[in-house]
Amino acid sequence: MSNQVFNCIATAAFGLEGLVAEELRRLGCQQVKAEPGGARFCADAGQIALANLSLRCADRVQILLAEAPCRSFEELFQLVRQIPWEQIVPLDGKYNVSGKCVRSQLMSVRDCQAITKKAIIERLRQAAHRQTFPENGAAMPIDLHLHKDLARITLDTSGAALNRRGYRTWNGEAPIRETLAAALVELSGWRPEQPLYDPCCGTGTLLIEAAWSAIHRAPGLTRSFAFEAFPAFREVDLAALRQRSREFIDWDRLGSVAGSDLDPEALKLAERHLQQAGLAGRIPLRQILLQQLQLEDQNGVFLCNPPYGERMSDRQKCQRLYRELHQLQLRHPGWTLCAISSDPAFERAYGRRANRKRRLYNGRLECEFLVFQP
Ligand SMILES: C[S@@+](CC[C@H](N)C(=O)[O-])C[C@H]1O[C@@H](n2cnc3c(N)ncnc32)[C@H](O)[C@@H]1O
Repeated sequence: MSNQVFNCIATAAFGLEGLVAEELRRLGCQQVKAEPGGARFCADAGQIALANLSLRCADRVQILLAEAPCRSFEELFQLVRQIPWEQIVPLDGKYNVSGKCVRSQLMSVRDCQAITKKAIIERLRQAAHRQTFPENGAAMPIDLHLHKDLARITLDTSGAALNRRGYRTWNGEAPIRETLAAALVELSGWRPEQPLYDPCCGTGTLLIEAAWSAIHRAPGLTRSFAFEAFPAFREVDLAALRQRSREFIDWDRLGSVAGSDLDPEALKLAERHLQQAGLAGRIPLRQILLQQLQLEDQNGVFLCNPPYGERMSDRQKCQRLYRELHQLQLRHPGWTLCAISSDPAFERAYGRRANRKRRLYNGRLECEFLVFQP
């Protein structure tokens, strides 16, 4: 089993699929192809473990077990039963089937989940010559996704979504998801030898993701994963993978990463997150309005997730802040300013056209990531 190659999908937020595909290629995965909602690839158990440990922008890594058109419960039952479950899940596993049916003839999610589970048990019964399964072991996150009558059965190897790095304890008012923050660092074009500054850093997510990326700190280094309980992953030496990832960390690559915010409570949380991310004392934070901010470096990258006016304050107030962000850039003529916002009038409020723009989603909010070069 250990050399078995699996078809996999790394799921990702819309707009980040290409970045995830690039990450997978850098990790040495084969047949990588971006598609809406993620990237497909082929990998053995060790590479899947490494992907879980290392991917910065993906939500989950799933093993694709079957994919075929299904228009009846019988077709679904047969599709699920032909999967060699006895090689994939432990006999005492808890077979948790999640489901989603979109624009398909089979519309009842609950019925589809029940059929899927029935087919899994049926297969295990025949293979293991057993009648009952206690389901008192580790959770096996199995997902059935039906979209336009195409059924996709996957096994989630991640468990908790990969944005759960372990450093965030409380969310603050409007934090950016860690995976999106990591993507923005990548898309900003920042290089670790330049200063990076977040003038409205909130709970510090962009700063932590920038620092981790700079020093090559694997985002999943200290968390657990669902695959640890899978029989097919028994030979994966996760402790050795973690140790190799630790040895890869290069503190010398952490240059000047810093931030500020007007909200002292957010800054307290940021300090706590920095500590939990192993970055205590490495990233200076201060309480200051971005309107009053003046830095000494001649050039660098401002990277920020200012309020949008949908969740935190009204839109006009936010647009005045976007103008202030432009003033900040004008006070720092060698600096690039990058911001994400859901406000379609961002450039008008900023008072200048962006040099680069990219459509992304912050949760359900359609946003643009804008890059204003000096
Ligand atoms: C969307 S939140 C940023 C969330 C952050 N990315 C995180 O991960 O927690 C926007 C932040 O902008 C800050 N802010 C709003 N107006 C500001 C101003 N004039 N100067 C500095 N910070 C400001 C807010 O206090 C808030 O923390």
